[in-house]
Amino acid sequence: MTKTAIPRMSIADGDGVKRYFEGGPASPCILIDAIADWSARSDWTLEYFAREFGAEFGVAKRDFFGAGAGRASTLADFIGGFSRPLRETAGFWIGDDGVPEGAATTDDDAPVWSFLWQPFKRHPHLLDAVSPFPGAIPNMVTSLPDDLYAALQTLSGFEFHSLYISRGGTVTPLHGDHSHSIGCLVQFAGTKHVTMYAPDDHVEINDQAFDPERPDYARYPEMHGKTAHLATLQPGDMLIIPPDWWHHTRAIEPSITLSHNFFTPHTFAGYFTSQLLQLAHSPHRDRTLSRVGRHLAATAHAGTT
Ligand SMILES: [Fe+2]
Repeated sequence: MTKTAIPRMSIADGDGVKRYFEGGPASPCILIDAIADWSARSDWTLEYFAREFGAEFGVAKRDFFGAGAGRASTLADFIGGFSRPLRETAGFWIGDDGVPEGAATTDDDAPVWSFLWQPFKRHPHLLDAVSPFPGAIPNMVTSLPDDLYAALQTLSGFEFHSLYISRGGTVTPLHGDHSHSIGCLVQFAGTKHVTMYAPDDHVEINDQAFDPERPDYARYPEMHGKTAHLATLQPGDMLIIPPDWWHHTRAIEPSITLSHNFFTPHTFAGYFTSQLLQLAHSPHRDRTLSRVGRHLAATAHAGTT
């Protein structure tokens, strides 16, 4: 397998950034100096989240693709347990049904994924700490009115912004993001290895089973010829993931990462077509449209008066 380093570009290179986004983006890139104006750049530490939101309850999913089973705890206990085996962390396991699992199991030291507690939904003001989005990037999502932002999240079933607080060693397995959106990973604490592959109509990475860290070429011979795009994200880095690119990450140390998905005028058609196709084939179409309607009700009412 060929390996190549993901290039780095300064956000100050206005023409370069403009060309990059007008060209797709066609390949991954790390933008540096892009978040110098965000208060989160200095404020978002593990200590900050433990202090400000430590009492809040959440679940570190047992694995990225799981339905919801995982280790339940407060955020302070989750962060406070980073230097100890997971079994010594206050908390308990819950199953996919959300019900606590009784006795300790041999899974007590199984790795868990990031702590999920919907911080942006509970505390919308947190988005202020990651604003404004760099003007050189033609991001349409961050200029949406609040109700349309919420409606599109409901339509897709995914949040535009997510926050990943993770133990050192946490792996996000190989996957592609939703709806042909552009992905963006911004690192605040710890370093994170990233491995990416270009989308390929002829290669199905079924069930995200291919592991770049332990490649099984006997099972996935088609991966032999693919190029692995590699990087180590440092605090302050913004990784741009072009639509449909596969990506795998491993946190080297305890880590805080913002994930943001967006579209640009160049990628809007792909994003919106994907949304409409998903809706057309959804068995929950009426329910979804009803919820979207509720988000937009205030706007619609204002428009008729
Ligand atoms: Fe992703």
